[in-house]
Amino acid sequence: MMKKCRLLVLSLIAAVALMGFATIASAGPIVIKFSHVVAENTPKGQMANKFKELIEKRLPGKVVVEVFPNSQLFGDNKVLEAMLLGDVQLAAPSLSKFKKYTKSLQLYDLPFLFKDMAAVSTFQNGPFGQKMLMSLKSKGLIGLGYLHNGLKQLSSSSPLRVPADASKKKFRIMSSDVLAAQFEAVDAMPLKKPFSEVFTLLQTKAIDGQENTWSNIYSKKFFEVQPYITESNHGLLDYMIVTSAEFWMGLSDELRAGIKTSLDEAIVFGNTVAAQKSVDDRQKIIDSKRSEIIQLTDAQRLQWIEKMKPVWKQFEGQIGKDYIAAAIAANK
Ligand code: SIN
Repeated sequence: MMKKCRLLVLSLIAAVALMGFATIASAGPIVIKFSHVVAENTPKGQMANKFKELIEKRLPGKVVVEVFPNSQLFGDNKVLEAMLLGDVQLAAPSLSKFKKYTKSLQLYDLPFLFKDMAAVSTFQNGPFGQKMLMSLKSKGLIGLGYLHNGLKQLSSSSPLRVPADASKKKFRIMSSDVLAAQFEAVDAMPLKKPFSEVFTLLQTKAIDGQENTWSNIYSKKFFEVQPYITESNHGLLDYMIVTSAEFWMGLSDELRAGIKTSLDEAIVFGNTVAAQKSVDDRQKIIDSKRSEIIQLTDAQRLQWIEKMKPVWKQFEGQIGKDYIAAAIAANK
């Protein structure tokens, strides 16, 4: 009787072990959900699709990437929470959207900080830029790299030539206190709103204007509802590609290395798209004749700088003087 019982227990253990093996064996490839808010035909949209193509070729059957553009899965206000819950594995929010997780990235929102995208690359590839990729670690997130979009322009329902033209006007901004301070510095009214709502807010005239890159103004058709765009190049819109530390550290070395290499290659591709789109999408907007592009004279530009630059002082305690100095040095 005892013997029979032991045999029964042993076969039960074996059956459970086999079931366990079957679960792992049929678990299939790692699925990476990549959620973003822009259109597919943008630097970030193209980079995400390129990453899918590269990794699925590099590690066939081991990794599957599902890309969700246009805020289909999550908006930027929810995506990082979703990542920490394991509902999404990759995202690339604008650097202006990390306020809840770190203060140091506020550097990238300081108005008139970088003179061009080459300076941005120099800073991001340098020691301070690289250190910032780890600034989210205590919150369970890891920065895997930066991606460019470009410099921002000011679009509006009325012409903006000097700061006084923006006075009392409502501008949509991303969720950044620096951007709020930047518009308050010219006596305007900033409103933090999700990207997915901007077109409707502009179309219904609930707001007067917004700031964005040529690529976002074109791909989301803001130019169709904004008769004026001031070519101000006053600020930066770039991205950090992020994942959760739990997901990243749970991967095998082979998968982690393959994903990182594919991401790095996709970023190089995305940056080329960004540079091209800042020229092509600008031209498409001009050709559409829906929006007038306003060029600032040196004197007018100086007025914007003089009004907005004091914002640097307001935030230097939170960002760090040494970080700001490194960014200024990148302009040389
Ligand atoms: C993005 O480029 O990801 C969105 C930027 C914005 O919210 O204006």
